[in-house]
Amino acid sequence: MDIILIAAVSANGMIAKSHDEVISWSKDLHIFRRQTMGYPVIMGSNTKNTLTADLDGRTPIVVHRGDEPDEILSKIKSDKCFIIGGGKTYSKFAQFLTHIFLTPHPLIIGKGISLFSDLLENLDLEFLNMLDIDSEQGIYQYQYKVKRDIHHTH
Ligand SMILES: NC(=O)c1ccc[n+]([C@@H]2O[C@H](COP(=O)([O-])OP(=O)(O)OC[C@H]3O[C@@H](n4cnc5c(N)ncnc54)[C@H](OP(=O)(O)O)[C@@H]3O)[C@@H](O)[C@H]2O)c1
Repeated sequence: MDIILIAAVSANGMIAKSHDEVISWSKDLHIFRRQTMGYPVIMGSNTKNTLTADLDGRTPIVVHRGDEPDEILSKIKSDKCFIIGGGKTYSKFAQFLTHIFLTPHPLIIGKGISLFSDLLENLDLEFLNMLDIDSEQGIYQYQYKVKRDIHHTH
């Protein structure tokens, strides 16, 4: 199964100014909708509380601190699922990610939540594709494959 992290980030890699920010600066919602349509979307409880976008046509899965990511993933019967945030949830699923779709936006968030708020490991990425979101504003979605050590089994 493809396990795809999808996020809008500031130019300095932040996803929000606070744990309860309703994200109004992202310009890629139409792409998010198109890409996630028909697939399970996994999110943390903070993100669930901030969502204003309608997740119709998607299967939302809200995760809590006691949930094990491998158990959540093993119950999904789909060829693809999306990890849609926030920083704690991206971190929780980091070791299982197969792809990362990132849309950097033209702003800097000084104090806030970074893409991976609790990550210790490093991930190597391979560039796959770049999607035009709003070329006038220089906004593109970068699609990466997560490179895994072949000796490392998950
Ligand atoms: N820019 C983007 O693309 C994007 C995408 C998604 C979200 N966001 C933003 O990200 C922010 C939310 O991110 P977030 O990282 O705060 O939350 P989150 O990942 O959405 O949810 C918090 C998760 O961490 C768990 N948790 C809370 N306290 C914990 C603790 N002390 N130890 C272990 N687990 C704990 C929660 O479980 P419990 O339910 O048990 O508390 C929940 O599963 C919001 O502002 C949202 O708007 C931005």
